[in-house]
Amino acid sequence: MGDQPVIATNDDASECKRGAVQLGYWTDNYISYFVKHTERRAPEINRGYFARIKSVDSFVQKFISRAGSTAQIVNFGAGFDTLYWRLKDEGVVIANYTELDFPTVTSKKCYVIKRNKPLLDRIYEQDGEVFFSPVDLHSGNYHCLGVDLRNIAQLKDKLNQAQIKFDRPTLFIAECVLVYIESECVNRLLAWISSSFESGFFVNYEMCNINDTFGDIMLGNLKARGCSLAGISQCKNLDTQKGRFVNNGWAGAKAWDMVQVYHSIDATERHRIEKIEFLDERELLVQLFQHYCICVGWLGQDFADFDID
Ligand SMILES: C[S@@+](CC[C@H](N)C(=O)[O-])C[C@H]1O[C@@H](n2cnc3c(N)ncnc32)[C@H](O)[C@@H]1O
Repeated sequence: MGDQPVIATNDDASECKRGAVQLGYWTDNYISYFVKHTERRAPEINRGYFARIKSVDSFVQKFISRAGSTAQIVNFGAGFDTLYWRLKDEGVVIANYTELDFPTVTSKKCYVIKRNKPLLDRIYEQDGEVFFSPVDLHSGNYHCLGVDLRNIAQLKDKLNQAQIKFDRPTLFIAECVLVYIESECVNRLLAWISSSFESGFFVNYEMCNINDTFGDIMLGNLKARGCSLAGISQCKNLDTQKGRFVNNGWAGAKAWDMVQVYHSIDATERHRIEKIEFLDERELLVQLFQHYCICVGWLGQDFADFDID
């Protein structure tokens, strides 16, 4: 079966995002190009995605405000993520936005971009001509590239093709990705980044506190779909999440579970989304939030003060 079940997690994430967008949790004018099918998910799942999107977006905004137009973003295991287009809608200008995923995923993403003028036009507007190969897309500032993140030599080559500059402030994003990759490979990836980039910030969203009954059920569900959770040992708790940054040459790390993160989101926005769907199992939402986290790591001191609020 190989990597196929892991690749399929992107379809699930994209369907969930589209479903939540349709209900009004947040605005995304682009996700519906990438995913046509949605099934109604439980309100807890929708709130989980809302908290995930809001918190990652908030770090992205902080990073761009500080780094300015020289900022680069590298989105690992980006799947059908639409952040690039959402930033465009906000008029954000950065030096480079590069997305990486398995070639099977990037080839589908490239195909959808090629077929949908609104997606393509957004790239043309600022980033000039767009070049497609079967699994890669290159333009002036936006790149979508097929690579196995376990292969550092290949990754290096792809980032060079994308003209990523190692001396520019770079934001790395991984949303529910590292858990699918063997810990040794994640360690190698993080160590390679810390030894190659001068100034950067990493936002990682994934599981934590998995060593209890709820964690067992959650992991059982994923394993039943054939997903090997090769990196799960680092999701044991917030300390193991932070540990993999500081043990791999990063200057520092912080982590928060999603209960903390959710409460850091603007109260007006929280109250708005809490009215979208009735939640009859509050306890379930809290448990879900306790088992996911945001962990950030930084290189140099330019972004060391970033926090969740
Ligand atoms: C759960 S999906 C998340 C997608 C996206 N980050 C999001 O939040 O919507 C996990 C993604 O990680 C990618 N992935 C996992 N392991 C990978 C690897 N070794 N190399 C490249 N991509 C990988 C999968 O293909 C998939 O698109």
